[in-house]
Amino acid sequence: MQITQDKKRNLFIKSYGCQMNEYDSERMTEILEKHNYSSVDEPNQADLIILNTCHIREKAAEKIYSELGRLKKINLNSERDIKVAVAGCVGQAEGHEIIKRSPIVDLVFGPLTYHQLPEMLEEIESKPGSPNKKLVNIDVPDEDKFLELKGSRKNLKSISSLLSIQEGCDKFCSFCVVPYTRGVEISRPSKQIISEAKELIGIGAKEIILLGQNVNAWSQSNETDIDMTFPELIKEISKLNIDRIRYITSHPRDMTEELMKSHKEITKLQPYLHLPVQSGSDKILKEMNRNYTSQEYIDIINKTREYRPDIAISGDFIVGFPGETDYDFEATLDIVRKVKYAHAYSFKYSPRPGTPAALKQEQINEEVKSDRLKKLQELIRQQTKDFNAGFLDKDIDVLIEKKGIGENRLTGRSSYLQPVHMSGDTSFIGEILKVKIVKTRDNSLEGIIL
Ligand code: 5AD
Ligand code: SF4
Repeated sequence: MQITQDKKRNLFIKSYGCQMNEYDSERMTEILEKHNYSSVDEPNQADLIILNTCHIREKAAEKIYSELGRLKKINLNSERDIKVAVAGCVGQAEGHEIIKRSPIVDLVFGPLTYHQLPEMLEEIESKPGSPNKKLVNIDVPDEDKFLELKGSRKNLKSISSLLSIQEGCDKFCSFCVVPYTRGVEISRPSKQIISEAKELIGIGAKEIILLGQNVNAWSQSNETDIDMTFPELIKEISKLNIDRIRYITSHPRDMTEELMKSHKEITKLQPYLHLPVQSGSDKILKEMNRNYTSQEYIDIINKTREYRPDIAISGDFIVGFPGETDYDFEATLDIVRKVKYAHAYSFKYSPRPGTPAALKQEQINEEVKSDRLKKLQELIRQQTKDFNAGFLDKDIDVLIEKKGIGENRLTGRSSYLQPVHMSGDTSFIGEILKVKIVKTRDNSLEGIIL
């Protein structure tokens, strides 16, 4: 498919939210590069602006409208015919409403249709004598998006590369929009995944991060020649010329013993597990439709630690879910104390349109939510600090990822995903080096290359 004349044009793409969106933005950039678009760092240099949006919380969604307000000014002052597109989950959830609220938007599409970008751009292309056309494309397509993505992964160089293996979600947690915006759960075929992993390795990836809304629900059966479990897929990838493998985000319900054991048996699989619990109260977990109890969650952590005692545990929490009492919140603090997290994200509950929890009567007021969030974050901050402090004077493996801030500075990651800063030459980028930790901070480590 040709975009009209494939003129040389500039693309500005801004990604919000999760790593899944980052991955999708990379893929959109690749498709458009094939059509003569070059990436620019400033929206005012662009012919096409894409906001790849996040709908998970109200604040995330509202950010998009503020950004569109800023872009309106740029658009008015520019001599270019700038096209503005809203992609991602806000696009999927709000569709036509976006163009009504913000007329500078020309194109709206969701995470399921971005492979059709060239055709969509062709459709909204300004034609002499005819009015500008707007397009909203949020239908669920029949074709396999990943098979249709024609851009190669050959241009993007990243030491740590994202690879989407699973999309969508069928779990319907009562607070979450993902099943509505990203659609039903699908697993990409292993052959596709292995071939993309090889491409990423070919352009210099040393670490592959397998991505999915429920990455550990990945499985392959019936659809292709071989049945395969998620740990078997990891094992296959570990046979390639790659140093490190990670996976995010997992659901406790799909945490098999085989996967826990992989952290012991597959040396390239890093000792890091992001396993959101959301709440420590069994009553709230039930209301959230999470389908596990706090004890079952703790059992998973303990069992995983039997196989890999040093594993770093990370999580997500929501405070102020409808009906959450002080007692329920105490149970959340309690589970944090028991698990001892290396790192965790926490959020105030945000009612999302169309989700069952948004309709519940007992919504919690903002002040209570803020107060609980502050307490929880203080506890998590202390735990991260303690986790990091345990690395003082230790010699650890660090994958050097990029130049740091300042002269002769480098930034990398430990196996436990901690950022590590050190002095050193850029020629080390892409290598795994032994680094002595000389200082620990709340959120990072300082080291000396040995
Ligand atoms: N309000 C607050 N946080 C939410 N999350 C998902 N939906 C909501 C919501 N409605 C959080 C969960 C999830 C993470 C990606 O975002 O903790 O794990
Ligand atoms: Fe949302 Fe729950 Fe699915 Fe995670 S498992 S994406 S929180 S519905």
